[in-house]
Amino acid sequence: MTDQSKSSDKPWGGRFSEPTDAFVERFTASVAFDQRLYHHDITGSVAHATMLAEVGVLTTEERDAIIEGLDGVRQDIEKGEFQWSVSLEDVHMNIEARLTDRIGITGKKLHTGRSRNDQVATDIRLWLRDEIDVIAAELQRLRSGLLDLAEREADTIMPGFTHLQTAQPVTFGHHLLAWYEMLVRDAERLQDCRKRVNVMPLGAAALAGTTYPIDRAMTARLLGFDRPTENSLDSVSDRDFAIEFCSFAALLMTHLSRFSEELVLWTSAQFDFIDLPDRFCTGSSIMPQKKNPDVPELVRGKTGRVNGHLISLLTLMKSQPLAYNKDNQEDKEPLFDTVDTVKGCLKAYADMVPAIRSKSANMRVAAKSGFSTATDLADYLVKKGVPFRDAHEIVGKSVAFGVAEGRDLSDMTLDELRQFSDVIGEDVFDVLTLEGSVQARDHLGGTAPDQVRAAVARARKAEG
Ligand code: ARG
Repeated sequence: MTDQSKSSDKPWGGRFSEPTDAFVERFTASVAFDQRLYHHDITGSVAHATMLAEVGVLTTEERDAIIEGLDGVRQDIEKGEFQWSVSLEDVHMNIEARLTDRIGITGKKLHTGRSRNDQVATDIRLWLRDEIDVIAAELQRLRSGLLDLAEREADTIMPGFTHLQTAQPVTFGHHLLAWYEMLVRDAERLQDCRKRVNVMPLGAAALAGTTYPIDRAMTARLLGFDRPTENSLDSVSDRDFAIEFCSFAALLMTHLSRFSEELVLWTSAQFDFIDLPDRFCTGSSIMPQKKNPDVPELVRGKTGRVNGHLISLLTLMKSQPLAYNKDNQEDKEPLFDTVDTVKGCLKAYADMVPAIRSKSANMRVAAKSGFSTATDLADYLVKKGVPFRDAHEIVGKSVAFGVAEGRDLSDMTLDELRQFSDVIGEDVFDVLTLEGSVQARDHLGGTAPDQVRAAVARARKAEG
């Protein structure tokens, strides 16, 4: 490790005093954004010092002084009494310099057997692991809100769409459970990603490992990692875990964005299917009547930056030779912003979803107006022995008649329907109603209200 760090009070030499030097110092520093890793940086250092004492590289007195000193540094930071210095470049050197200020020469022994290269990789993993756990909990809160809403709306009938044209009636609860399924997959992906986050690079040092008799398994255990990494070069250069996290995030945001799109459509005067409480909406400074669905719109919009961060990280890594390169300092801002954005969007959604109210009368009118039970009539004819292609033709003619008359199939008389096929009997009205249509789809994964309730029960059990 060839640290060039200088204490903040050490003046730069004459040739570094030009304004350009000041710019390069700021240009290459990461402390403005990586200071948010301070807590995990200190946690990692405490474990490292503990291990060094255990293997005899530090004395127990030195270890205790370092741990106490780091604790003091942590408190200074938390009390807002820490002066971050750009000339000390990053969070790691700032904390180490402050430790040495506090405890003297022993502070300079902390960096034995490690490098900022394995240190930063460890810090990001520790930090991301904690954030993953927060995100997983928020995602679960959203899923459980969706399940409650789906149960409440199990009997509510709305039009189901293909091509955004009315297709067949579905229950609103069933539609909500489609969103639930996407979020279950997101949660699974997040846990899978966590497995590869929770591996410890510390001990790789700059790139080749270290000559000290370190015990990596011990440090890993102290930090709650599943295991140490296998290869020192890979350890300091790998950012797959960050890319995987961002890819989880991009897919989650894609789901939230599609969900948002529907909420925006459904709150419009043209659909008017749902109501979002005022506290999740804002008004217009010029149009007094407006109530805008800002939360869904903003979540839809924020999908762009999360997708962008995924591409940033992929591009950051694509041409890097082994092992560590300064390029890697650019991993933090996209990752931090992804975490912040995802947490914000999930919080907004988890708070908002339980407050969604359906306007079931409007949904019903819409479900009835698009000949949504036409397929049910065709199925009815098939069950009476008519070949499906002929049934399709008969129903097509019935629909054309309904369009001309301005009436739904269920509003026609038996005689009117029988003009198109004499196999039609009084029992046709059981299948032409919206309730008959959804209740008939009574199988695993179908839209029948009882199936929705059963799916909610299964999901709650799986959620534990
Ligand atoms: N600030 C650096 C980063 O974020 C820490 C590691 C720097 N290592 C080095 N050899 N310059 O990646």
